[in-house]
Amino acid sequence: MSSVDTTIRLISAGAIAGETCSPELAKGPWEFDLAPAPSYGPGSSMSDVIPTGSPRQGQLPEVYRTASADELDARIRAAKDALGDRVVVLGHFYQRDEVVRYADFVGDSYQLANAALARPEAEAIVFCGVHFMAETADILSAADQSVILPNLAAGCSMADMADIDSVLECWEQLEARYGTEPDAEGRVPVIPVTYMNSSAALKGFCGEHGGIVCTSSNAATVLEWAFARGQRVLFFPDQHLGRNTAKAMGVPLENMPMWNPRKPLGGNDDATLDAARVILWHGFCSVHKRFTVDQIDRARAEHPGVRVLVHPECPMPVVDAADGAGSTDYIGKAIAAATEPTTFAIGTEINMVNRLAQQYPQHEIFSLDPVVCPCSTMYRIHPGYLAWVLEALVRGEVINRITVDAAVAAPARVALDRMLAARPGQAAERVIGD
Ligand code: 13P
Ligand code: SF4
Repeated sequence: MSSVDTTIRLISAGAIAGETCSPELAKGPWEFDLAPAPSYGPGSSMSDVIPTGSPRQGQLPEVYRTASADELDARIRAAKDALGDRVVVLGHFYQRDEVVRYADFVGDSYQLANAALARPEAEAIVFCGVHFMAETADILSAADQSVILPNLAAGCSMADMADIDSVLECWEQLEARYGTEPDAEGRVPVIPVTYMNSSAALKGFCGEHGGIVCTSSNAATVLEWAFARGQRVLFFPDQHLGRNTAKAMGVPLENMPMWNPRKPLGGNDDATLDAARVILWHGFCSVHKRFTVDQIDRARAEHPGVRVLVHPECPMPVVDAADGAGSTDYIGKAIAAATEPTTFAIGTEINMVNRLAQQYPQHEIFSLDPVVCPCSTMYRIHPGYLAWVLEALVRGEVINRITVDAAVAAPARVALDRMLAARPGQAAERVIGD
């Protein structure tokens, strides 16, 4: 099976049948670096609005734009050999095959956060993922380590749906409604919980307000932690992860109002807010929003016995119709655990799905979505950018360093440490920062 990148090129050239969400995906990502306004680039996030002030990636030097895949491969390998243990390359499961092959650690966002902690002797952490992941690595890593994002345009449209000003405005309104005093059991009115897919500023906000970070692999444990300390939770930015997780824990849907930051009281009346257990920010992932119940119905009709596994960023009806939902790590482990040849239909990013299909040829593994549509921002990392930042390191130059201001990093670290220390079933125990 060819890589997603090769498949997209072949489809765009008319050499094979198939559909992509944008023929522009076949171009080099550098063609979009100098666009008049920052953009998420071609792919499934392109209709989302990128905030002003998002990092801009300058023009990648010509030598990397014009190099063949073989030349880039040789340059990356030579630079990695020259750097040895001075550099560690981290790769998220959603990275293209042409990049992930150089990663020293491949994992989900939780595993990569731990990996950033695991190599304190490396001078540089090159993060092949998206901006919020690199920020997290900077917060968790030692002060003298530099974290590098090979392409600064690799953001996350969902993370950008909650900004610190809107969250502060929301918080003011919630404080006005609920007050600030704990109840008889010592539970404060609201605990803020931010998904890892958020800016460092929001993680800092959570650290300062008794809150915590979660990833898709520990969202239930974190909500349990939060319910032990608060009467209700404000969950941002992903409404779907919040809703799917809280629903599985028995929170009724009528106690999960949505907070629309453009409306007073988030678009809710007082009675709705009074009954709230989880207030869900109006954010979503444009990649996971593509999965539908119709696709699941079709997979079941065409592949009797198929097992449908989806990521909890998918909308609730999709999660409900699937056989299992969990983080990227959960999906990988569920497939690894299948002892008999099985057909799997997967609802998560296509690079990961295709890699699993290659890794487990004894199973039939395919994406629920027939349209080839990678996460547009993960896809902005191309081997050309990796070669560029690694060769600069060999020369002693650090480019595209992601640095979180100390005033933000300190409280963000508190919220991250609470997450790293949280364990299922230990919600009532007091952990770091309490
Ligand atoms: P994981 O936490 O499962 O790695 O997911 C990160 C992400 O961005 C999913 O869209
Ligand atoms: Fe963000 Fe969605 Fe891409 Fe994950 S898949 S990085 S949530 S846009």
